[in-house]
Amino acid sequence: MPHDFPTLTVVRHPLVQHKLTYIRSQDTTTENFRRLLRETTQMLAYEATKDLPTELIEITTPVATMRSPVISGKKLCFVSILRAGNGMLDGMLELLPAARVGHIGLYRDPGTLEPVEYYFKVPDDVAERDVIVVDPMLATGNSAAAALDRLKECRVQTLKLVCLLAAPEGVANVAAQHPDVPIVTAALDERLNDHGYIVPGLGDAGDRMFGTK
Ligand code: URA
Repeated sequence: MPHDFPTLTVVRHPLVQHKLTYIRSQDTTTENFRRLLRETTQMLAYEATKDLPTELIEITTPVATMRSPVISGKKLCFVSILRAGNGMLDGMLELLPAARVGHIGLYRDPGTLEPVEYYFKVPDDVAERDVIVVDPMLATGNSAAAALDRLKECRVQTLKLVCLLAAPEGVANVAAQHPDVPIVTAALDERLNDHGYIVPGLGDAGDRMFGTK
């Protein structure tokens, strides 16, 4: 389905869509949920890193000498929005094992419904890194926008947001506050329900990956 969000990329590859179907299904076990999320995250990471700069190095194959590309440029940092973001870290790190990792913990104040930070730990040199924020569910977008604000306060220049599922409300919110931040997702769902869950979604991502319900 086409959409009107210039910063959003929906990865429509059949492998991503196939795995996403089983991630969504309530019949999928915790173990399979985690595995499928890890595998799908790798494919989203592939999209999110497609513009990493490369440089040529000289190598020798068994047949000839050639100049061949390797990734160059700034180093990476993945930042997980706790707790569900942690389910995406393994997949990202399998693809890019040298990346550093940060964590941001936010909860929603029941009175104001605004995100409140309870944990923040990122590498000291985060400002010199390209940062990819991971959170499986882009629902209201308030946590993602707050995490991006916080990273900009740390002078991070290059940010991307990778999520498994997005609601139009969340994409619109993040895009309005952070029009410079590309968003990569596997699907743009219909809407949020009255409880802030993505419809049709997959339920509570944290509970499903950690088996807490
Ligand atoms: N967080 C979740 O885990 N699921 C949703 O549907 C929305 C936010």
